[in-house]
Amino acid sequence: MKFTLLSASVISALALLPGAHAWGKEGHAIVATIAELHLDPTVLPTLCSILNPSRPGGSCSLASVASWADEIRNRMKWSGPMHYANAVADHPPQLCLFPGAKGWEGDVNVLKGIRNTTDLLSQWVQQGSDLSDPIASEALKFLIHFAGDMHMPFHLVGRARGANDIFVKWGNRKVKLHGMWDGNLVDRAIETTPSDWEQQLGSEIEHHLHGDHYDPLIRKVLVQGINQTWAGEVQSWVQCPAASSALPRGDDQTVLQSQREASDTDDGSVCPWHWASPIHQLTCDWVWPKQLEQPPYNDHQGPLLELDTDEYGGKITREWVVEKLLTMGGIRLASILNLIFTQQKGN
Ligand SMILES: *[C@@H]1O[C@H](CO)[C@@H](O)[C@H](O)[C@H]1NC(C)=O
Ligand SMILES: *[C@@H]1O[C@H](CO)[C@@H](O)[C@H](O)[C@H]1NC(C)=O
Repeated sequence: MKFTLLSASVISALALLPGAHAWGKEGHAIVATIAELHLDPTVLPTLCSILNPSRPGGSCSLASVASWADEIRNRMKWSGPMHYANAVADHPPQLCLFPGAKGWEGDVNVLKGIRNTTDLLSQWVQQGSDLSDPIASEALKFLIHFAGDMHMPFHLVGRARGANDIFVKWGNRKVKLHGMWDGNLVDRAIETTPSDWEQQLGSEIEHHLHGDHYDPLIRKVLVQGINQTWAGEVQSWVQCPAASSALPRGDDQTVLQSQREASDTDDGSVCPWHWASPIHQLTCDWVWPKQLEQPPYNDHQGPLLELDTDEYGGKITREWVVEKLLTMGGIRLASILNLIFTQQKGN
């Protein structure tokens, strides 16, 4: 996957299309690569056999299929709403609902998509791992993609089509707020990764990198993020509340409400609602810029708000906000895949 000027302009053109709901190709590839680096050693060969059933036991990279779900989106129209989760009454920053009493828009969403594909793949393992069953490959490619989408804050926002209808400025360019997160912020994270991270790590790691321009970012998050800055919290990223120990005493309405919200998708080991909720809260807290609600920026005729500022873009770079979201996506994807593919048949 070589990055050429042509693909750069195609990617940025895609980011401007209405309804483009996804981290760009880079973001999804980074999530998939971080996941691949955290798989149980027995799992990757199985995944490669599912992806390439004609070459069982061959090698593969999860990054190479991470954007498949975007590529087929026009052919498989029904899959579009599976890339995001919009609550009907959500309106950050004023009203923060995930999903609240009015529920989700539509019957499917990214949280249910993760549950559905996880269950399908578990059944596939239980029923004997038939490589000629096309469902396994489709479900795996969707799961790899949805794990990325779930960590993109604007895929979880029920206002203005996930901020696809909101225009801001990035540098001097007019961009969609949604598209700025999909592409511009990932590009910025890659560009601001210091050149010391071009030095290679051990071969077990380098074996999973393929000369892409985001490789230094991956090395940086492995060594400085996962092993240092976030070392104390990485374990908690993959935890889920135990289904019954969290039962409320009395009738605490808030607890009851959140149990109802989680019940569709979460269990004690895979809990997309529980994992996504703090990311949605981030949008309510500051990712949806509060200045957009005030004059002159709340007027469609008014000027566009510049976000490549120290306060917004600078904060995201300094605090590794995008790096952390992509890494959480990768670590959680690895955890789901390890769980599915190391279970014993008939359990
Ligand atoms: C579940 O995933 C499968 C395979 O990817 C897909 O065909 C099906 O429509 C999905 N169903 C739901 C309810 O999401
Ligand atoms: C992270 O830390 C573990 C445990 O100390 C070590 O085995 C591993 O090599 C480190 N990984 C990187 C990329 O530095």
